[in-house]
Amino acid sequence: MFSNLPEHVAIIMDGNGRWATSKGLPRKDGHKEGSFAIDRLLEISLELGLKNISLYAFSTENWKRPISEINAIFELLNFFIEDRLTFIKEKGIRVLHSGAKSKIPILSNKKIENAIEETKNNTKLNLNFCLNYGGHEEIIQSFNKILENRIKLNEILEKEITIEDIEKNLYTYPLPPVDLLIRTAGEQRISNFLLWQIAYAEIYFTNTLWPDFNKEALMTALEWYNNRVRKFGGL
Ligand code: IPE
Ligand code: IPE
Ligand code: MG
Repeated sequence: MFSNLPEHVAIIMDGNGRWATSKGLPRKDGHKEGSFAIDRLLEISLELGLKNISLYAFSTENWKRPISEINAIFELLNFFIEDRLTFIKEKGIRVLHSGAKSKIPILSNKKIENAIEETKNNTKLNLNFCLNYGGHEEIIQSFNKILENRIKLNEILEKEITIEDIEKNLYTYPLPPVDLLIRTAGEQRISNFLLWQIAYAEIYFTNTLWPDFNKEALMTALEWYNNRVRKFGGL
């Protein structure tokens, strides 16, 4: 359908709170409705043959929110992973996690680890949940891992750090760089998402709130992407 499908689509799923508020509902209902938008996204992605999707579900900065909202988000996440796991397994989706495990509630870590383990041989679509994810933190931990390995091997000062060293230690490794970054809900900022991986991404902003994101919205974004001329610094 599209001559040029992005290899890796990353989505900043923003606007759940505004969706709820606009309907006089508590913010947590917006997150719940947002989970149905993920269901739709998965169905269409499988139909289209998308290979890698990264979803920004909770940032390292989202801990600043009221504890009641944080709890509601993680409860929803626990429910979502368990409830959708059969579908995910049957459809050949592989679950991945990007982000620091520390601070994530124990039960959520367990559910994510279980989903990762149960789907590790699936190859149709990589579904990367970015949870307790921050671009700065990811790059820092990459350098720390490089350092740790070099200390172990006693080669700390032997050679300079390369792009490959850094990329191999990112949470997203071995996913390819992001081709298309979508942000919903009208904000035109990156909010610390996949800073390294979006170096040459095409960035698509839409006013649609995440809970309203549907097939048509995704097709519009993909069509827009299809019309971009990517130059990567060349002519
Ligand atoms: C995005 O929706 C979901 C998370 C950050 C977990 P928001 O909760 O940020 O929704 P708005 O921006 O307040 O509308
Ligand atoms: C980005 O949305 C994080 C997620 C979608 C998980 P935010 O709503 O947290 O971003 P800001 O605060 O508007 O930049
Ligand atoms: Mg927001």
